[in-house]
Amino acid sequence: MVDQQQVLTALRGVQDPELHRDIVSLNMVRNLAVDGGLVSFELVLTTPACPLRETIDHDVRDALGAVGGIDDIAIDWGAEVRGAAVREGGPKPIQGVKNVIAVASNKGGVGKSTVAVNLAVALGQLGAKVGVLDADITGPNVPTMLGIKGGIQSEGGQGLHPLEAHGIKAVSIGFVLPAGTPVVWRGPMIGSGVRQLMHDVDWGELDYLIVDLPPGTSDASMSMCQDALIAGAVIVSTPQMVALEDAKKAVGMFDRLGVPIFGIIENMSSDVFGRGGARDAADELGVEFLGELPLDVHIREGGDSGQPVVAAQPDSPVAKSFIELAEQVAARCSVLQYAGEAGALA
Ligand SMILES: Nc1ncnc2c1ncn2[C@@H]1O[C@H](COP(=O)(O)OP(=O)(O)OP(=O)(O)O)[C@@H](O)[C@H]1O
Ligand SMILES: [Mg+2]
Repeated sequence: MVDQQQVLTALRGVQDPELHRDIVSLNMVRNLAVDGGLVSFELVLTTPACPLRETIDHDVRDALGAVGGIDDIAIDWGAEVRGAAVREGGPKPIQGVKNVIAVASNKGGVGKSTVAVNLAVALGQLGAKVGVLDADITGPNVPTMLGIKGGIQSEGGQGLHPLEAHGIKAVSIGFVLPAGTPVVWRGPMIGSGVRQLMHDVDWGELDYLIVDLPPGTSDASMSMCQDALIAGAVIVSTPQMVALEDAKKAVGMFDRLGVPIFGIIENMSSDVFGRGGARDAADELGVEFLGELPLDVHIREGGDSGQPVVAAQPDSPVAKSFIELAEQVAARCSVLQYAGEAGALA
């Protein structure tokens, strides 16, 4: 007869391939029960968007298969996202939000908003609790891309409530500007607007809050990175020759602000713009390359119509690229939250 200790010992031999630690010491195995030849337990991943579920499943079954005496294995899959660690004297976290992820670029028009919106919806589809904050004072277009009309909700003075669309929560700096108002906010006013949207909105419980930044090293980006704890930044770049220079500037900005960089995404890969430039830039800068998105008419149409392609055409190759990207970003985020915690806990 197999006993619990034998099962645990076998499971200690299974590593999370990204975190390089065994799944028992990571507290991923919960409520283990052995009933005759039936072994059952919960396997709690570090993100519902885990790209390695199948690998872990395979490794677990392999390890238990070697024990002998086990007829059946019942795994109840779950996920628990860990929040970014708060540093003393550092920026304060947003209430209820585990990880703020900034989407940025040095250049305009490279697809930040498109990536932010589809990344957010993809993470939501994978089972995470997600919000998106449009902090682009120069041209807030997240509401259009999500198909929501402006107007921030305040219920009986109970604070500001985000709107919901395609399974995610959304707030735009555009909501606090009456329609048609030219963008005249400057410096400190931009900072206070962004700060209000981060800290005064009732986000509820979120695993990930994706922030769509304006291009460049503007006041909104700077003030945001100083006013809230940012788990990490995703840099969007096109494949052109200048991509390296652009990526360098964006990486430099986050480095100076002490914000970790999850990696670089290449958007608009195509015969027209080329391919691989962002990957080369990532290699040269020593940051992760998170994936590439093709130049594809459905991506643009999804943005214009308020039906993000990942929601409108979930089975399309483009939607699959966004899902893979979301998994990569979530994995980078998990790795960072578990870094510096080397060695077994149990
Ligand atoms: N991969 C793609 N394929 C086709 N069209 C795309 C793709 N990515 C973005 N676009 C389109 O390119 C335009 C610019 O994209 P987007 O608004 O997301 O860029 P941005 O970096 O947020 O711009 P800004 O700097 O002005 O905020 C939009 O019309 C969008 O639909
Ligand atoms: Mg934008």
